[in-house]
Amino acid sequence: MIDGKKVLFSGMQATGTLTLGNYLGALKNWVALSEEYECFYSVVDLHSITVRQDPAELRKRARNLLILYLAAGLNPEKNCIYYQSHVSGHAELAWILNCFTYMGELNRMTQFKDKSQKHADNINAGLFTYPVLMAADILLYQSDVVPVGIDQMQHLEITRDIAQRFNGVYGDVFTIPEAYIGKSGAKIMSLQNPEKKMSKSDENPNASIYLMDDPDTIRRKFKRAVTDSEANIAYREEQPGVRNLLDIYCACTGRMPQDAVAGFQGQGYGQLKEAVGEAVVSVLTPVQEEFARLSKDKSYIDGIIKSNAEKAEYYAAKTLRKVQKKVGFPERIRK
Ligand code: TRP
Repeated sequence: MIDGKKVLFSGMQATGTLTLGNYLGALKNWVALSEEYECFYSVVDLHSITVRQDPAELRKRARNLLILYLAAGLNPEKNCIYYQSHVSGHAELAWILNCFTYMGELNRMTQFKDKSQKHADNINAGLFTYPVLMAADILLYQSDVVPVGIDQMQHLEITRDIAQRFNGVYGDVFTIPEAYIGKSGAKIMSLQNPEKKMSKSDENPNASIYLMDDPDTIRRKFKRAVTDSEANIAYREEQPGVRNLLDIYCACTGRMPQDAVAGFQGQGYGQLKEAVGEAVVSVLTPVQEEFARLSKDKSYIDGIIKSNAEKAEYYAAKTLRKVQKKVGFPERIRK
């Protein structure tokens, strides 16, 4: 708890180009949650170097992502918006937690298995202990809730296991976090293969709507979206393409799927696609405009980066000092 509010932590990596899926599935929910919780929203750059990055590119993407958090509507006076690498406590706590995590547990992580297949030439120890760093992120702020997608649930489970194990040895040190699966955190699927999640690393650019796509590109991609040959606008599993379009439409307009279906009575797929395209354009355009405006204001952004990192550091240090003491490290002599 901070000032009577529960603590929320989440983070995103600045790799790949963010998609509409990242926005509707995560960022938009973050904004909705930011009134109710004391929120820490991090740009998790330490995680990014588990695969090779071009340094200049990583730095640029990380800054753009941080600005995007703001452009999406997160208030930096109320939320803590910062780079993970600016708060050394993440790495320090991760080391300690590594000593409370078993190889066998980490071996079971499906993301590790996937990533080591994808990056077979660089299966480094950081990739293996990635979930421990994530646990450190979460536990460092005594987080109560963590909004995550289904793909990160296993990492949240291991975080809880590590925290419980640690608490079992040393008493109540860590808050045990809960996953927050958003109600409207619709899983947005690829426009070209609606059986697959919309991904920032998809090779086919028509499969994903990127957050920075211009209105004409957005409209064109929806026009080309894969549907089916049923010629029937319905919200059902057997029509994943149409269902995905309806999900996107609903996430953008706040409607319920059944109402949306009723509204499209008597219309064809062409009209549906056009309506979805317009709904997405009207959601993304203001974010893009705000992003462009903020990007030009270097000193404002730098000020936020500085003050928010200091705030994060303050809370991180509190937990870290407690943990260091518990495990038996000598106290620093400060006078
Ligand atoms: N691993 C997460 C992802 O790729 C990002 C992340 C890092 C995260 N640390 C976190 C998410 C802590 C939630 C909480 O999506």
